[in-house]
Amino acid sequence: MKAMRAKITGTGMYVPDRVVTNKDLEALMDTSDEWIRQRSGIQERRFIQEGQLPADLAEAACRQALDDAGLEPDQVDCIVLATLSPQADFPGTSFFLQERLGGTTPCFDLRAQCSGFLYSLAAARSFVASGQYRRVLAVGCEVHSTGIDLSTEGRDVAVLFGDGAGAVVVEANDDPEDQSGILAVQLHAEGRYARKLWIEAPGSGFQPTRMTQELLDQKRHFPRMEGKFVFKHAVTRMPEVLQEALDVSGIKKDDVDLFLFHQANLRINEFVAGALEIPPEKVRNNIQRYGNCSAASIPILLAEAQQEGMLESGRIVSLTAFGSGFSWASAVIRW
Ligand code: ACO
Repeated sequence: MKAMRAKITGTGMYVPDRVVTNKDLEALMDTSDEWIRQRSGIQERRFIQEGQLPADLAEAACRQALDDAGLEPDQVDCIVLATLSPQADFPGTSFFLQERLGGTTPCFDLRAQCSGFLYSLAAARSFVASGQYRRVLAVGCEVHSTGIDLSTEGRDVAVLFGDGAGAVVVEANDDPEDQSGILAVQLHAEGRYARKLWIEAPGSGFQPTRMTQELLDQKRHFPRMEGKFVFKHAVTRMPEVLQEALDVSGIKKDDVDLFLFHQANLRINEFVAGALEIPPEKVRNNIQRYGNCSAASIPILLAEAQQEGMLESGRIVSLTAFGSGFSWASAVIRW
């Protein structure tokens, strides 16, 4: 059987209305607007309002992506949702999203942290290429604000994260005249560094039960990160995998029109762009406004780029991420 090409036919995003500035965080912990901007580039992020759920964010992003693709929810064959902050430990977030979209479309959560969207895109592409499904929603959705330590003790991580969701529709492209498609998605992981950036509890490795008062008192339910170690690996792995995806696609770096990087830290992205001599005008960042939305960062960037008319037909787009796991990945797309 000939592999079917897969293309992105719709993009969507949603961020909550509640803006939390660096100044707002100064009221909660010993930090400063200057420290946060200098180290990360972040000026503000969005946090959910009271009562808002991850599925609310994911639904809004998906409906926008479906509208963009000219599809109704019941025309989707599968939903792959990447998250590190599931609405419930099981069944995750995707089932609550599916409840909103209606029907009995198969769905599942995928765990690859900040590289999660690119892992979802790879899964969606493979489903389409194999002929199993014609239309797949690939979603990234995070609610970080309820899972970070917003006190001075947790400040090194807490100031970095924001809430948001992004989605794309991946469809089979069997039109020989239409050259658009996902040309490559390269995935990598290195589990020996899983403990360099993680949330330990609740976890099924704890006995006799997954969550105890002791774990709570020790704050082991909040993310912990060796920031400098993560930084060093991110700036090494991202250029490597970006180039690898270009090589697999047979695309030259200079022929890429737009580079979108995961939004963990503006300094990481400037470093990666500098190392590869990518001109700044070909890179689009939004970490200044949204912070790190993990699996949602890249699809949010894609939706914004689409809304701003940056994704005309024929454009070549390179997507690259690095995150907890460690996991890293890169995709090349002909729009
Ligand atoms: N406000 C003020 N001071 C702070 C804060 C804060 N929010 N956080 C830490 N500090 C202090 C530290 O305590 C330290 O003080 P000390 O020198 O007195 O000990 C000082 O600032 C410097 O801290 P460093 O950790 O050395 O700062 P660094 O320059 O490494 O920057 C940062 C920290 C921004 C986190 C950086 O290491 C980084 O971006 N790392 C990578 C993050 C990343 O890529 N994450 C991956 C994606 S996330 C995912 O996959 C879930």
